[in-house]
Amino acid sequence: MISLDLERVRAACPERLILWRETTGSTMTEAARLAAEGCPSGTVVGADEQTAGQGRLGRSWHSEKATGLYVSIVLRLPLEPVGLPVLTLALGLAAAEAITRVTGIPCDLRWPNDVLVGGKKCAGILVQLLDQGAVVAGIGINVNQTRFPPELEPIATSLRLATGREYSREPLLIALLAAVDSFVKILLDEGPETILRLFSQASSYVVNRRVAVDQGERTLTGVTEGLDPSGFLILRREDGTRTLIVAGGVRPLPE
Ligand code: BTN
Repeated sequence: MISLDLERVRAACPERLILWRETTGSTMTEAARLAAEGCPSGTVVGADEQTAGQGRLGRSWHSEKATGLYVSIVLRLPLEPVGLPVLTLALGLAAAEAITRVTGIPCDLRWPNDVLVGGKKCAGILVQLLDQGAVVAGIGINVNQTRFPPELEPIATSLRLATGREYSREPLLIALLAAVDSFVKILLDEGPETILRLFSQASSYVVNRRVAVDQGERTLTGVTEGLDPSGFLILRREDGTRTLIVAGGVRPLPE
């Protein structure tokens, strides 16, 4: 197992507090603890391996040792909770930009912030609001996995599977942190409209996509019709009515 070269990342981001674990339950828990202890905004905690990686909607996140990038970033931003959905979109844009910058692979975004390569998921983002108003942005990128458990095989990919090349995690992490800073700055300086526009341009899911939305107790189907000003997804149902999707797992349906 080759651990991440933390000094290389720290040298590229000298201002930032970056902590690294060989193995941990979840970097989300570590980041929440650091935030409660008062760590500065931008603090990063990552791990070579997670034994209880968390995904959206109560799912787990497959976190094989040293093949993926698993990080949580503590953000203290002048944003009301109502701004969180757009922050979530901004983080997806950041992950996609970092991947494309380092690998040259074009990415798609599936609302709210799954990053897809060739239609399969290669990165996911979990955003948690803490009691003290800080936000933890948990980002998982599948980098060098060569296979996935059978239940993930049809829907997951890695940068290596997509290109046939192996990637160092350090340049990807450096690009990711820069991209997160850059999209957060766009959100704070220009407002949510710019993020909504950029996300809509980058995602094939925002408009005119037939999808199913799993919401636990029910599954809705319809065609997407854009984002509302809060960053929620508008779904036109088969009966012509519109439903605002504030949470759920979106998956494509045949046209
Ligand atoms: C998703 O379901 O798409 C979100 C996945 C988020 C995974 C990352 S890996 C680093 C951080 N720690 C976790 O336990 N989850 C997030």
